[in-house]
Amino acid sequence: MASRVIPVSPFTLVIFGATGDLSQRKLLPALFHRCVAGQLPEDARIIGTSRRAMSAEEFQAFARKAIAEHVPSKDLAEDGLGRFLERLDYVSLDAGSDEGWPDLVDCVKRGEGHIRVFYLATAPDLFGPISERIGTHGLVDQQTRVVVEKPIGKDLASARAVNDAIGRVFPEESVYRIDHYLGKETVQNLMALRFANALFEPVWNAAHVDHVQITVAESLGVEGRAGYYDTAGAMRDMVQNHMLQLLCLVAMEPPTSTAADAVRDEKLKVLQSLVPIDGRTATAATVRGQYRAGASAGGAVPGYLDELGASTSRTETFVSVKAEIANWRWAGVPFYLRTGKRLPSRVSEIVVAFRRIPHSMFDGEAGTIENNRLVIRLQPDEGVKLWLMIKDPGPGGMRLHNVPLDMSFAEAFGVRNPDAYERLILDVVRGNQTLFMRRDEVEAAWTWIDPIIEAWQNSGEAPKPYTAGTWGPSASIALIERDGRTWYDSGD
Ligand code: BG6
Repeated sequence: MASRVIPVSPFTLVIFGATGDLSQRKLLPALFHRCVAGQLPEDARIIGTSRRAMSAEEFQAFARKAIAEHVPSKDLAEDGLGRFLERLDYVSLDAGSDEGWPDLVDCVKRGEGHIRVFYLATAPDLFGPISERIGTHGLVDQQTRVVVEKPIGKDLASARAVNDAIGRVFPEESVYRIDHYLGKETVQNLMALRFANALFEPVWNAAHVDHVQITVAESLGVEGRAGYYDTAGAMRDMVQNHMLQLLCLVAMEPPTSTAADAVRDEKLKVLQSLVPIDGRTATAATVRGQYRAGASAGGAVPGYLDELGASTSRTETFVSVKAEIANWRWAGVPFYLRTGKRLPSRVSEIVVAFRRIPHSMFDGEAGTIENNRLVIRLQPDEGVKLWLMIKDPGPGGMRLHNVPLDMSFAEAFGVRNPDAYERLILDVVRGNQTLFMRRDEVEAAWTWIDPIIEAWQNSGEAPKPYTAGTWGPSASIALIERDGRTWYDSGD
């Protein structure tokens, strides 16, 4: 079936932090792609803001460079780029004072009748002050939306403070908390797989599933973000949001519809059912690591401390966790999560490992019978594989083999998979909150994460070292092998 392009209503999108990394790498390229696809109405406008003094023309040149850098050249038609850049305006302002705001008000109000979207691609400590000024300058109407990026806080208390500050200006129905993993194509497909097929639901529970593994591995280090990263670590940067959201989509009960709250209510219940991990259980249920110099992506790479330019740090660049969900569907089924920087490859996938057959009627010559696995690959090459035992073809007796029923999306559909931000930004304009985190979800996630981080801090132990280019500290292998299981080789 061909993909469909449904134009959205006229909108004015204001990007705070328009000259920053996120804007250059993700937001401007995503808007460009949607523009070329014909999804932006004629009068849709994008206003960049930041402290930097710049004319609209200079911002357009800036955006041209960012897009050329981050969009593959085959997708870069000059006339399309020109038409996109014409939509861009720029206002220089100070988020922390009233300087420049009257200009922004004039510029925004030119989009009469438009849906207004304020995208806060800034440091989180500016979310409150910017929201407040959007309010005091009279820019909030019925059709106004605000988009905030993670991290929302660094623990439950600070997340509540940030949510309160935003909530003083915007009602919850206007707040879009982005977790870009929810916009990824395969994550959408996980919903389709679970809820548009009758096949999986009867076996999607503790009676048939042995365990679940969720891996989000990156081969890159902390690059230019060491300053931020050292205050966060893998637990806050990846587990609190992306990985718990993936876990929710695997574990949640079937929502009654795709309506935002129908889905978010179910995700919330999963978060609330996570078995707490605290000082008593953290050592057995978690492993944290920090990379040392090694080799990754084909070359020698420095260790975390060198990238940070510090002689010591207790920040974890790797985490694995054995999470458990205390409800009827999942009691006794471990969800093993692992994520890290400088691992052997960039790969994100969810593995649902089913229980072994209760009895084999085949003799030893037939080979070992593996358990069935459903592998949902988010990146790099999106697809779904269902691993099944089959008979080796041809004569020679019954020889059993484990092979995947393989649906690689790029091959199957031959279309460009849109970046998560393309879908998410337009969902904001459409007013669809299904793929955005509700306040109570974010806070429930912190409620589970906080005691783990506290336990680590109280233990006085440093993260375990691992060599860049390996799958984390050996303790992570022990974490799962103690249970008689093993991490599946990502890439299978
Ligand atoms: C971000 C994290 O949210 O997700 C980064 O802050 C991480 O540290 C990134 O690299 C991973 O996203 P993706 O889409 O490349 O898997």
